[in-house]
Amino acid sequence: MRRPFIAGNWKMHGSRAQNAELIEGLLLGLPGQVPVDIAVCPPDVYLWEVGRLLKDSIVKLGAQTVCAESIGAFTGETSAAMLKDVGCTYVIVGHSERRTIYREDDALVARKFLAAQSQSLIPILCVGETLEEREKGQTMQVISRQLKAVLDVAAPGALQQAVVAYEPVWAIGTGKNATPEQAQEVHAHIRAEVAARDANIAARLQVLYGGSVKAGNAKEIFAMPDVDGGLIGGAALKADEFLKICAAAQAH
Ligand code: PGA
Repeated sequence: MRRPFIAGNWKMHGSRAQNAELIEGLLLGLPGQVPVDIAVCPPDVYLWEVGRLLKDSIVKLGAQTVCAESIGAFTGETSAAMLKDVGCTYVIVGHSERRTIYREDDALVARKFLAAQSQSLIPILCVGETLEEREKGQTMQVISRQLKAVLDVAAPGALQQAVVAYEPVWAIGTGKNATPEQAQEVHAHIRAEVAARDANIAARLQVLYGGSVKAGNAKEIFAMPDVDGGLIGGAALKADEFLKICAAAQAH
């Protein structure tokens, strides 16, 4: 059986004081063991300190992006080895904000995926269609293209050490989540695409849903058979809300 996974993507939010308060709230509300994988992804500059605050807890540390290059003259970038060095377990790659605002294309996302795995970081690979693509009936095509870009360059078996997040762009930060049925349809498609290459890996792959998940809608989304948890943006910034989402994942 797949363990549920809840990851908080803090995006460019927080301060040292706010982070400490949020982590304190999370740790107070979490028992020592839960049947859910949990991670938080703060901005890079706070990774080290948040990692110290999380120390010995069940909550893992993740980053929001990574440089595709391993070392050298890349001003402003952070390598996978550096993320590993400060205690990261996970790194998000291909988030739609990176794809759209910073023009990261499929090929670059695939290189970032490989860079992460080269340092034994677990990539959380985001895929998702825009509203325009959905309205044109291109959703599955877009998801397949984004997945293929990674699967074609990664070693066979690479998805054994990876997570996929389906994040419809139109649902991110808009308060407009995909319906559980819309999410299930795409999640099943993702699993089928992976199964076409390796059925065992597909059966074990954690596929998260992201896009306006809140305490109030988490349960019905996580109830879908191919939804294994969520990548949470806005609702990850409040301890009680995030804890409720973790509890909703646990219920399945
Ligand atoms: P949201 O963001 O939950 O605020 O919609 C999700 C994400 O971008 O990962």
